[in-house]
Amino acid sequence: MNFKEICSEKVKEIEGILTKYLPEATGLQSRIMEAMEYSLMAGGKRLRPMLMLETYRIFGGEGETVQPFMAAQEMIHTYSLVHDDLPAMDNDEYRRGRKTTHIVYGEDMGILAGDALLNYAFETAVKAFEIAPQQSGAIGCALKILSEKAGIYGMIGGQVVDVQSSGKVISREVLDFIYELKTGALIESSMMIGAVLAGASDEEVSKVEKIAKRVGMAFQIQDDVLDVTSTAEILGKPILSDEKNEKTTYVTILGLEGAQKEVKRLSDEALALLFELPGEKDYLDTLIRELIHREK
Ligand code: IPE
Ligand code: IPE
Ligand code: MG
Ligand code: MG
Ligand code: MG
Repeated sequence: MNFKEICSEKVKEIEGILTKYLPEATGLQSRIMEAMEYSLMAGGKRLRPMLMLETYRIFGGEGETVQPFMAAQEMIHTYSLVHDDLPAMDNDEYRRGRKTTHIVYGEDMGILAGDALLNYAFETAVKAFEIAPQQSGAIGCALKILSEKAGIYGMIGGQVVDVQSSGKVISREVLDFIYELKTGALIESSMMIGAVLAGASDEEVSKVEKIAKRVGMAFQIQDDVLDVTSTAEILGKPILSDEKNEKTTYVTILGLEGAQKEVKRLSDEALALLFELPGEKDYLDTLIRELIHREK
């Protein structure tokens, strides 16, 4: 099997896990479960759970303890997208190849579906205690990472400065702050949680954080590039969203070529650091390389 085929097998495996952990649509509130499923199962790349599982594996992680965290991480990521698309934020109507959640379910349900995914992420992650009570120390540590990287010192913090900066020209320093938090933080938590649950040492976890930080920055810069070079059909979301919202991006600061060079530079740094980690890293190495030229 080539990389693409292996990758799509892994995506299938991840989607099986997501389906397993989604709540059943029952009760008077069943509409919210439907909206959660609509946004979550819409066919994203599943990069974060994939990075978590691969990092878990290189540190020798086995068994199902990581699964509720994989689902939780994708729920948090999906909630961030549902809210990012709201009229008050980026005001976008397509996501993952379909109409955004607030367009289909209404703005009220869009907000609540995001809230629900965030809360249900933690309801899901704590199920790891039932799967592996003997690993409660590592699970507690993973919960700390999951919560902090999604919060005001992580993703939310980055989104705050992102929306405050719309319509303004900002410095590269501020832009880096935004990217490290709004996108980097969830990639960091994905990889760090995989390492922690597999029993990696503190030193190894901090190395993983450095790798993920670079992967996250490169990923967001490539997202900026695709916003101007791709098509809505390929991306499954509108292009030129950044221009519409008058965002400073890596493309506006460095130009297209400069931004693409930066993606390559950051990814090469990540790959050099990855080389220092133990275990079988071929897939992770190729994945990071493929992300440099990703088309969606
Ligand atoms: C989109 O993330 C938001 C960014 C951080 C750039 P992805 O590009 O991973 O979106 P999905 O999960 O594949 O839909
Ligand atoms: C997304 O940044 C970051 C999030 C935390 C949701 P963007 O606003 O550039 O993401 P897209 O392009 O809408 O996916
Ligand atoms: Mg945004
Ligand atoms: Mg957006
Ligand atoms: Mg974008």
